Amino acid sequence: MGKIILTGDRPTGKLHLGHYVGSLRRRVELQNSGEFEKVFIMIADAQALTDNADNPEKIRQNIIEVALDYLSCGLDPAKSTLFIQSQVPELCELAFYYMNLVTVSRLERNPTVKSEIAMRGFSDSETEGDPTQRGKGIPVGFYTYPISQASDITAFKATTVPAGEDQEPMIEQTREIVHKFNTVYGPTLVMPEILLPDNAACMRLPGTDGKAKMSKSLGNCIYLSDSAEDVRKKVMTMYTDPNHLRVEDPGQVEGNTVFTYLDAFSRPEHFAKFLPDYASLDELKEHYRRGGLGDVKVKKFLIAVLNDTLEPIRERRKIFEQNIGDVYKVLEEGSIKARATAAQTLKEVRSAMRINYFEDRELIASQIEHYAHRK
Ligand code: TRP
Repeated sequence: MGKIILTGDRPTGKLHLGHYVGSLRRRVELQNSGEFEKVFIMIADAQALTDNADNPEKIRQNIIEVALDYLSCGLDPAKSTLFIQSQVPELCELAFYYMNLVTVSRLERNPTVKSEIAMRGFSDSETEGDPTQRGKGIPVGFYTYPISQASDITAFKATTVPAGEDQEPMIEQTREIVHKFNTVYGPTLVMPEILLPDNAACMRLPGTDGKAKMSKSLGNCIYLSDSAEDVRKKVMTMYTDPNHLRVEDPGQVEGNTVFTYLDAFSRPEHFAKFLPDYASLDELKEHYRRGGLGDVKVKKFLIAVLNDTLEPIRERRKIFEQNIGDVYKVLEEGSIKARATAAQTLKEVRSAMRINYFEDRELIASQIEHYAHRK
């Protein structure tokens, strides 16, 4: 059987460089590799609502931003099905059945959900101050989103989920659900695998402030839609090695955000194009370590590399921005296609669970028979 991709993003804001190196760039490569029978890319609005119930307008407005980012990066509706999660209601029905295969304690152990609870508190106004109730103010929908994510993945029979490290526990949870379902009801669902970025810098791109993650709430993002001038300003404020005070001082490249970004973005041809005195990133790092290489020179190179990467994305974005109606049309058509696929899987699931009563001639015949004898 052919390989199938399903992945997606919550539409809570514009996509940034962390999304790009974490998954987006890879998706475009995979889409164009011809190795996959189908590629589904989902805007996870329903999942975004699980912790934005009070702000649906934010989600509503950001759907088009994410769609523009997708198309600008090179996701191509002729090759990939781009769709909106909430427009495929079959996903909810699948999740409702999967919920019976997952325990509360298993959900509580999900490390991503755990850290999200820890980060946000989720206190309940009625039980505030009671330590035994800490974290219990979490919406049920948010708590169960790993199960809904299992529906997203299995509905499309995905074999491959290109995503960042933070999604690993979700795929693990999905795999357990697939295993359980197939054991209980017979082989029906496809076992998916996560496809992680292949280098550490891409796995978790730090923010421009050097913090562990690029995140809108920390204000440390470079967005795909940022202008060349935005990029220049943001890179100039980036942390380097705090002990590298004078140009001649030896510097450290580990944990130096500017070099982490170069690990994620620079390619050999960037050196020929923008910094011909060096043949490779290794040479540049070597000089920095030795001393005699200033931060500004490295930053200027990074600005050139980032803008070289982003320029074609910006160009395409400009064109799609002039055709917003068409972008919605792409999502609408994608959602119709996605729905047909999910409906087929749901049919198979219902039949495996034997809740397809009206198609089950044998069930009806045996009940007729049973009651005939009781006359
Ligand atoms: N959880 C993902 C995020 O926060 C979005 C998502 C929803 C997803 N369903 C998915 C990703 C299925 C991969 C596969 O960005």
